[in-house]
Amino acid sequence: MRLSHLAVTASLLCLLVVSCIDDNENGSLTSTHGSRSSMDTGRDCIACHTSGSEEGEFIVAGTVYQSNGTSVYPNSTVYLYTGADGTGSLAATIEVDGRGNLYTSDRLSFGSGLYPVVRGSDTTQVAYMGSVITSGSCNAAGCHDAGSRVSVP
Ligand code: HEC
Repeated sequence: MRLSHLAVTASLLCLLVVSCIDDNENGSLTSTHGSRSSMDTGRDCIACHTSGSEEGEFIVAGTVYQSNGTSVYPNSTVYLYTGADGTGSLAATIEVDGRGNLYTSDRLSFGSGLYPVVRGSDTTQVAYMGSVITSGSCNAAGCHDAGSRVSVP
């Protein structure tokens, strides 16, 4: 009796621990150079990765392309500044993963707006977005959809 109780308690504990490790809602889920767990390159990530979704909410997500606008640019980096052209303070640095996607579940504050800067692996490759963003849904329709990709020169 006692032993089987113990066994049940132990397996319940295991389940609890495993489900905690699996649960991304309490931890940060952010792309890193080289990682390849993302998907659906070019699609509007936050349409699915929305608040309350099982797949985890992203605050910023999108895809970076090379200058041709069709090949992705893996391992590039996106920066969000409070001022235009990389001025002001740096609010966030998000590494683009090995599939060309970037994403973060970190609750960063957009304040009155942030200016994105994208850099390639060569330091001369830099693109400044001229207007501010107050949402991080880069690939949304009417933003960087098929006709107007985020790209590095
Ligand atoms: C059509 C809905 C949909 C779109 C669009 C979508 N995702 Fe997902 N994503 C999911 C679902 C569902 C899962 C969980 C199942 C899976 O891994 O396939 C997931 C899982 C993930 C994971 C793994 C999460 C983890 O827990 O490790 C990452 C990373 C990810 N998506 C990134 C992205 C990025 C970046 C984009 C946009 C370029 C994107 N997704 C677009 C539905 C979507």
